[in-house]
Amino acid sequence: MCGIVGYIGELDAKEVLLKGLEKLEYRGYDSAGIAVRNEDGITVFKEKGRIADLRAAIDTSVEASVGIGHTRWATHGVPNRKNAHPHQSATGRFTLVHNGVIENYHLLQKAYLKGIQLASDTDTEIIVQLVDLFVSEGLSTEDAFRKTLGLLHGSYALALLDREDADVIYVAKNKSPLLVGVADTFNVIASDAMAMLQVTNQFVELHDKEVVLVRKDGVTITNLEGTVMERAPFTAELDASDIEKGTYPHYMLKEMDEQPTVIRKIMQAYTGEDDALTVDPEILAALNEADRLYIIAAGTSYHAGLVGKEYFEKIAKIPVEVHISSEFGYNMPLLSEKPLFIFISQSGETADSRQVLVKIKEQGYKSLTVTNVPGSTLSREADYTLLLHAGPEIAVASTKAYVAQIAVLAVAAYVTAKEKGIDVDFDLKQELAIVANNIQTVIDRKDDLEKIAEDYLKIARNAFFIGRNLDFCVSLEGALKLKEISYIQAEGFAGGELKHGTIALIEDGTPVFALVSQKAVALNIRGNVKEVTARGANACIISMEGMAEDDDAFILPKTHALLTPLVSVVPLQLISYYAALHRRCDVDKPRNLAKSVTVE
Ligand code: M6R
Repeated sequence: MCGIVGYIGELDAKEVLLKGLEKLEYRGYDSAGIAVRNEDGITVFKEKGRIADLRAAIDTSVEASVGIGHTRWATHGVPNRKNAHPHQSATGRFTLVHNGVIENYHLLQKAYLKGIQLASDTDTEIIVQLVDLFVSEGLSTEDAFRKTLGLLHGSYALALLDREDADVIYVAKNKSPLLVGVADTFNVIASDAMAMLQVTNQFVELHDKEVVLVRKDGVTITNLEGTVMERAPFTAELDASDIEKGTYPHYMLKEMDEQPTVIRKIMQAYTGEDDALTVDPEILAALNEADRLYIIAAGTSYHAGLVGKEYFEKIAKIPVEVHISSEFGYNMPLLSEKPLFIFISQSGETADSRQVLVKIKEQGYKSLTVTNVPGSTLSREADYTLLLHAGPEIAVASTKAYVAQIAVLAVAAYVTAKEKGIDVDFDLKQELAIVANNIQTVIDRKDDLEKIAEDYLKIARNAFFIGRNLDFCVSLEGALKLKEISYIQAEGFAGGELKHGTIALIEDGTPVFALVSQKAVALNIRGNVKEVTARGANACIISMEGMAEDDDAFILPKTHALLTPLVSVVPLQLISYYAALHRRCDVDKPRNLAKSVTVE
């Protein structure tokens, strides 16, 4: 995780860096820092806490037009000022920011840096000390940087300043995202284009293990062997307003409100000239040829994958396995003869998923990434990509990306079925149009959902979410949403499973949210609700029109049975949001988390 930025040009570097870090804060927010270089040398400002704390600590009289910055999600060393980036070498000549994890930092320290007193507990500091060491042994800074990179095992996006040379920022990446932004009178670097849209929308992609020298008037990219690589910039198709909160108090609220639009955008993006839903023929061929799909994902994306399995099996008749990425890579099951791997990832940067992608590629298997971020690592490295078209998702809690993932998987399964000549008895486009309206209907009832949050969760210590079939998949997501932003301990269960142990936790007043949107199991889940209420639970039933009963707390508009997750998740998102607000939690930036999890 962590976000890095850099600027070299004519403007006040401090302000560009701080604004950039504010946009990257979603990547980590436990401490932050910047280093700027001027004729007096390099000045470092760093603070524990948010970018706002860093901003307050900066001496505005220091003027500089070169600098680097970092916002941190701690991996090595507790979040404090000492461990905040930038880190400096013992001589003070070199200053570095780093996103990633250096796995062999202890070995490098023992092998090369025995006599050096380290100033932090981080893996990062080893890198900057090594560069200094190799320069002191006679190498140029570029050669020392290159030699250091050759010793590192792990992931990194790096930016290095040399006190003795104001004209260059040394940059490299491996497995962590990093882009160079280009313009006529300056150049920038950033973990995400969003951070530098303030100054440019032209970006150059960097590849792993390249060495990049960023100067005010040019960028030189070389590969490991030193050969110069030419690469044209691309235009970041992002609108600055997409990444602003506007009048919303939180990104999460804005992003939940965008969900009807996201569904409509997906329908538009996947509609062909004949007005029918369509998917890239190469992807269709890959789906058609596969004898089994392996969906690999983490967190919310994994929950979307569970719904996707139902689509590919029920609509397209292809067997599917869904796996948690952090488990799959180190404990691969027996694979079928012609597997296709589907990576679902909002960010396209999740390290747990990427390690699986690397492994299955080594074994020669084909892969498809379903992501919100074009050009992200998982998108670049997979054979095919399906985009979510959800627009940037900034809140750490994923909402609109979840519904987008499910909708795109539905489209892919549906079009595959049609291609296979399977008789599908519904018109997905028509049903998705209904879904968009139904989501809006739920969103328009925010007051009711706020009241439910207050009634059921205001003093709750824990909560359960139950459902059967597709409702079970959604209950897992509902529980994740609630716990990650309100810190109420919450678990999702298959309705029939509670009585096999967990029902022991039900006490007077324990909130149990039950979803009733699947006709075939509606009576069964209502039976499970009776079991928990008999033991004192405060049950909140969220049912669907046609299956509703008098005492149900919230009734969802009627939706196609396979598409109910797209609608039933929305009240759970909003209930979680209001529960978190009641507890005065930082909704967009929950503790201990970060949006993009680029460490394993
Ligand atoms: O970017 P990804 O979809 O790969 O991220 C996976 C998870 O880290 C993510 O879904 C996480 O669980 C969310 N914070 C949940 O709201």
